[in-house]
Amino acid sequence: MNSDTIEISGNGFRYSALVGHGSMANAGELARKVVRGNRCAVIADETSARLFGDHVCESFSSENFSPRLIRIPSGEKSKSLAQVETICDEMVAAGLDRSSFVIGLGGGVIGDISGFVAAIFQRGVPHIQIPTTLLAMVDSSIGGKTGVNLNAGKNLIGAIHHPALIIADVAALESLPPQEVRQGYAEIIKHAIIRDTEMFQTLSSRAKQPVRLGPMDDGFVALVRRNIAIKARIVAADAREISGERALLNFGHTVGHAIERATDFKVPHGDCISIGMVAACGISMKRAGLSSQERDDVVSLLNQFELPTRLPPKLDRDRIMEAIRYDKKFTSGEVRFVVTPRIGEARLSRAVTMNDLQDAVAQL
Ligand SMILES: NC(=O)c1ccc[n+]([C@@H]2O[C@H](COP(=O)([O-])OP(=O)(O)OC[C@H]3O[C@@H](n4cnc5c(N)ncnc54)[C@H](O)[C@@H]3O)[C@@H](O)[C@H]2O)c1
Ligand SMILES: [Zn+2]
Repeated sequence: MNSDTIEISGNGFRYSALVGHGSMANAGELARKVVRGNRCAVIADETSARLFGDHVCESFSSENFSPRLIRIPSGEKSKSLAQVETICDEMVAAGLDRSSFVIGLGGGVIGDISGFVAAIFQRGVPHIQIPTTLLAMVDSSIGGKTGVNLNAGKNLIGAIHHPALIIADVAALESLPPQEVRQGYAEIIKHAIIRDTEMFQTLSSRAKQPVRLGPMDDGFVALVRRNIAIKARIVAADAREISGERALLNFGHTVGHAIERATDFKVPHGDCISIGMVAACGISMKRAGLSSQERDDVVSLLNQFELPTRLPPKLDRDRIMEAIRYDKKFTSGEVRFVVTPRIGEARLSRAVTMNDLQDAVAQL
């Protein structure tokens, strides 16, 4: 196993993300360095439990930990308070206590709910993230945001609880379906637009090829590492979204979230933010001086990764505007919109109006 370490630190937290190939086999040994207790819960969904559950539990057992695999159904519906209670009951029944810890083995759904369980079980126990989707590896496992959904909306209940360790084993991605690979690339392209011109160019220069992940090469490992580092740097600067730095990660998300809501969450998140990023580029041309050439470059790159850049024709644009207004209820009414003046840079703008949003949505 070879792996690279990215340190993630900020006000009151410090942990490592280990990026490597095959590192899951050493999860127990790696955990030994950051946790004390022996009993632990490995929380996984049906798919990640089937693919990696035994392997990860064996690795922990071989280091004299007592792992308990807890499986929950796959999908966003599992991110609920009811599921949190079921998991906690199972942890108590398995004898876990204050000295125990929690491992999240799966995609972003598992990362979010297992992190929330870790934040509240016995008032808080350590959390280890073992992300198994591209999105979880480059985005959701980093930064300490944990939580579950309510009927009224996504991620309305939660806690900031930073993991003690992130083990990103790219070999786990070999089984990921193309549809899920695309979801991760949407966030990678977002990172490139807001922070990394060079990565944008490297991605753009790749020949268009079907978006799937075969055996991993060094270039791919480097790409994952680079994206973890981008998110890590932003989170380190502003873990609790105070200075506004972390809000830059919401590039494309205002309109993206509205599309998710307007389509009753039937269109996946990455696809929605892909279209949302096109809208954000349109607004950036008007309010931040983005060139039309760079806007077109963003559209081509998204297309190259088989991400949509137009709305489904039948979707009522008014529903999207309604959803944007609904979202504002949770953000004190002000539109704080992330714009990009040029690829590789982003900033928050207060100059964006609801009319700008309406025009941008009408053009999608
Ligand atoms: N906390 C944060 O900062 C943050 C950031 C972004 C997104 N999120 C959350 O992340 C969630 C989305 O994450 P996601 O896209 O990983 O979804 P997910 O966890 O539902 O995983 C997607 C699908 O892939 C399957 N899967 C997982 N690993 C696999 C593998 N190696 N091979 C084959 N299939 C595999 C899962 O079973 C699932 O069906 C959302 O709930 C979102 O709110 C959180
Ligand atoms: Zn996102």
